[in-house]
Amino acid sequence: MSVRVVVSGAAGRMGQETCRAVASDPALELVGAVDVVQSGRSLADLVGGGVPGLPMRGDLVAVVRDTQAQVVVDFSVPESRMKVFSAAIAAGARPVVGTTGWTEADIAACRTLCQRHGLGAIIAPNFSIGAVLMMKFAAQAARYMPSVEIIELHHNQKLDAPSGTAVKTAALIAAARGDREPGEPHPARGQEFHGVPIHSVRLPGLLAHQQVIFGGLGQTLTLVHDSLSRESFMPGVILACKRVLELNELVYGLENLL
Ligand SMILES: NC(=O)c1ccc[n+]([C@@H]2O[C@H](COP(=O)([O-])OP(=O)(O)OC[C@H]3O[C@@H](n4cnc5c(N)ncnc54)[C@H](O)[C@@H]3O)[C@@H](O)[C@H]2O)c1
Repeated sequence: MSVRVVVSGAAGRMGQETCRAVASDPALELVGAVDVVQSGRSLADLVGGGVPGLPMRGDLVAVVRDTQAQVVVDFSVPESRMKVFSAAIAAGARPVVGTTGWTEADIAACRTLCQRHGLGAIIAPNFSIGAVLMMKFAAQAARYMPSVEIIELHHNQKLDAPSGTAVKTAALIAAARGDREPGEPHPARGQEFHGVPIHSVRLPGLLAHQQVIFGGLGQTLTLVHDSLSRESFMPGVILACKRVLELNELVYGLENLL
């Protein structure tokens, strides 16, 4: 039996890519599409061939109940992150969330919601396997080269800064090298997260890129990851849709599924 999936934020850039990826995976079935702005429009008209001709709707709880969806994939907007997560859980579906902007307090609240309802969920600031590997390698390198800064570069439509990936990378680096004294704040030196300066660039032409630059005596080491198309996120999203059914708690970060 295929896994019944609803996509929230279906009309957006990531939502459309996710609808295509879910519809083309034989183990998954795209049963619903939710988007508050494009509600009423046919998904197939918007996304093109290969997806079912579902009407896009605005009420996530009603769509999950009507379709008996097991999984809700959310790529909407940072300000809706908590609302969509709680609605999916309340309707009895497992959230797979790529929407960014999460704070530690939000994550704790989601963890509690999952426990209360006995449902699994996955929140991943980055679903691309290469970015997850970059984070792992950064944590490894930080044990030997603790001086490090992050530059993250994204398209100019991205609503949040710094990126969730950069903050997560900083947290992994901090855990690997132990606590450090924060540096003197300076507007041109980025903003420190977990003691690591992050510099955010937003420009047309970019998609999602990150450099982690380590400095040591007479040497530097730079890790670079580039997402060149939104397809780069899809293997991770599809993996999460399948694995979330085995969980009864929140998993934060795709690296915990690999
Ligand atoms: N985790 C990852 O790997 C990853 C990768 C890329 C982007 N992102 C994040 O995914 C999110 C979406 O990015 P995008 O570029 O597709 O944005 P987008 O602006 O193209 O699409 C967002 C869509 O969500 C819809 N929407 C707004 N509020 C909603 C709600 N309450 N319920 C349902 N739909 C709603 C909008 O109408 C829009 O169609 C952002 O937070 C972005 O940072 C995550």
